[in-house]
Amino acid sequence: MPSLLIVDDEPGVRSALGGVFRDEGYDVDAVESGEACLERLTRQVYDVIVLDIWLPGMDGLATLARMRERQVDAQVVMISGHGNIESAVRAIKMGAFDFVEKPLSLEKTVLVVRNAMRQRRLEAENQALRARVDAQYTMVGESYLMAQLREQVAMAAPTNGRVLIFGENGTGKELVARNIHLLSRRRAGPFVEVNCAAIPEELIESELFGHVRGAFTGAVSDRRGKFEAAHGGTIFLDEIGDMSLKTQAKVLRVLQEQVMDAVGGSARIKVDARVLAATNKDLPVEIRAGRFREDLYFRLNVVPIFVPPLRDRQEDILVLADHFMAMLAREYGRRPKSFDPDAVSALRRYPWPGNVRELRNLVERLMIMVPGDRIAGRDLTFLDQGMVGGMDTAARPMPASSTSLHDARDQFERDYILRALAVQQGNISRTADMLGIERSNLYRKMRGFGIAPPRRIDDDENA
Ligand SMILES: Nc1ncnc2c1ncn2[C@@H]1O[C@H](COP(=O)(O)OP(=O)(O)OP(=O)(O)O)[C@@H](O)[C@H]1O
Ligand SMILES: [Mg+2]
Repeated sequence: MPSLLIVDDEPGVRSALGGVFRDEGYDVDAVESGEACLERLTRQVYDVIVLDIWLPGMDGLATLARMRERQVDAQVVMISGHGNIESAVRAIKMGAFDFVEKPLSLEKTVLVVRNAMRQRRLEAENQALRARVDAQYTMVGESYLMAQLREQVAMAAPTNGRVLIFGENGTGKELVARNIHLLSRRRAGPFVEVNCAAIPEELIESELFGHVRGAFTGAVSDRRGKFEAAHGGTIFLDEIGDMSLKTQAKVLRVLQEQVMDAVGGSARIKVDARVLAATNKDLPVEIRAGRFREDLYFRLNVVPIFVPPLRDRQEDILVLADHFMAMLAREYGRRPKSFDPDAVSALRRYPWPGNVRELRNLVERLMIMVPGDRIAGRDLTFLDQGMVGGMDTAARPMPASSTSLHDARDQFERDYILRALAVQQGNISRTADMLGIERSNLYRKMRGFGIAPPRRIDDDENA
C-alpha cells in the first residue's frame, strides 16, 4: 500500500486529508510539527509527505532542508498559505515535487499527491533497475590480482585504445569488456557483442559488415552489420582466435582504414567503433602455426589485459560464491544460503577448471538442490571426487599439443610470478626475495610477461 505522511498543525486539515487519502487507498499517518515529522522519518519510510510551509517551531522549509540532508527519498508536496508563493517556489528549488495552496481544494490535492506517488514509483523502479544492472556488471573480488585487473580496466577504459583481453574460459573476459565500455566516454553508445566462434564461417562477413540485397542467395533485403550497429559505441569481438584468415583480413582493413564495405555493396562506409577483442587461445602460438595474422594481432593488442584463472586468486572464491548466492537468491525470490566451514574449504580446495562461470553454475545448482539455509561439506563431496589433483601445476591438463617447451616454460614462469605477487600482496621487494632474484630482474620479467607493476610505491617499507 502506498504510504503518506501529513504534516500540518491544524487538526481539521489533518483529519480532512487523512479521511480523503484513506479512501483513496493510502496508508496514512499525520503529525502536527516539523520536529515530529523528522522524528517519524527515523522510524518509518513514506512514499509521499504532504508538508505545510507554515508550522509553529521548525517551519516547512527548514524541515524540508533537514530531510534533504538525511537523504530521505520520499516525494514532498508542500501546502502553502495565501501569499506564500515565494516560499513554495523555494521549496520546489530544494527538491519538493509540487505545492498546493490554501484554502485546500481536496480534488487538487489528491491529483498532486497521485502524481507525486507516480514519480516516487518511477524513481524507485529506476533505482532498482540500475542497482540490478550495476550488480550484474560489478567485478567482484578482493585478491591482489583482481585489484590489479580493476586498475588496468580503469586505466584503459577512458582511452579509445583497442584492448585485447585474454584468459581461460569463464574467467570474466566479457565482464572486463563490459566494464571498459561502461567506464568509457562511449558508455551512452551501443555495446555490440559478436561471438566469432558461434557464427558459421560463411555468414560471419555479412554479420560483421552487413550485406546488400541480392548479395548472395538468401540475402532478401539489405542488412546492417555489427560494425555499423556499434557506431559511436563499442564492438566486442569475442573468441577472435576462431576467425578464419579471410575474415581476419577484412577486420584488419576496418581497423587500419576505419572504413568497410557491406557484402555485395559498393559504398565504403565509415565506422567509428571502439574495438575490444577477447580470446582464450594463445595467439602467439596461433600465429606461429599460421592460423592467426600477426599484423591483426598487433593492431588489436594495443592494450593487453590478462584475466587470471580463479585458482590463482583463491581469496576471491568465497567472495564470489557469496556474491552469486545473493544475486541468485534475489532472482529466485529465495533466501540466500550460507556456507559451512567445511563447505568453504571444499570450495577453496577445488581447482576450478571452468573458472568463475563454473563457480556461478555450482552456486545456482546448490541454490536449487540444497534444502535449508546452510550448505554443508557433504553437499560438495562431488567436487573432491571430480578433482584430478590438488592445486598442483603438474596435475593440470596437458596444454594444447602445439605448445613448445619454450612457451610452456614462459607460461609457468608467468604463472609462478603472479602467484608469488599474490602471496606478497604485490610487494615487489618481498616477491623478489621469495623468488630469489633481483628486484630489477623481477621488473624486467613482469614487463616481458605483460604483468603491470603495482602502483603503490610502498614496497620498500618492510623489505
Ligand atoms: N570478478 C567477477 N565478479 C563477478 N562476476 C564475475 C566475475 N568474473 C566473472 N563473473 C561472472 O562469471 C560468468 C562468466 O564470465 P564471462 O562470461 O565474462 O567470462 P568469459 O571469460 O568471457 O568466459 P568464456 O571464455 O566462457 O566466454 C559471468 O556470469 C560473469 O558475470
Ligand atoms: Mg566470453
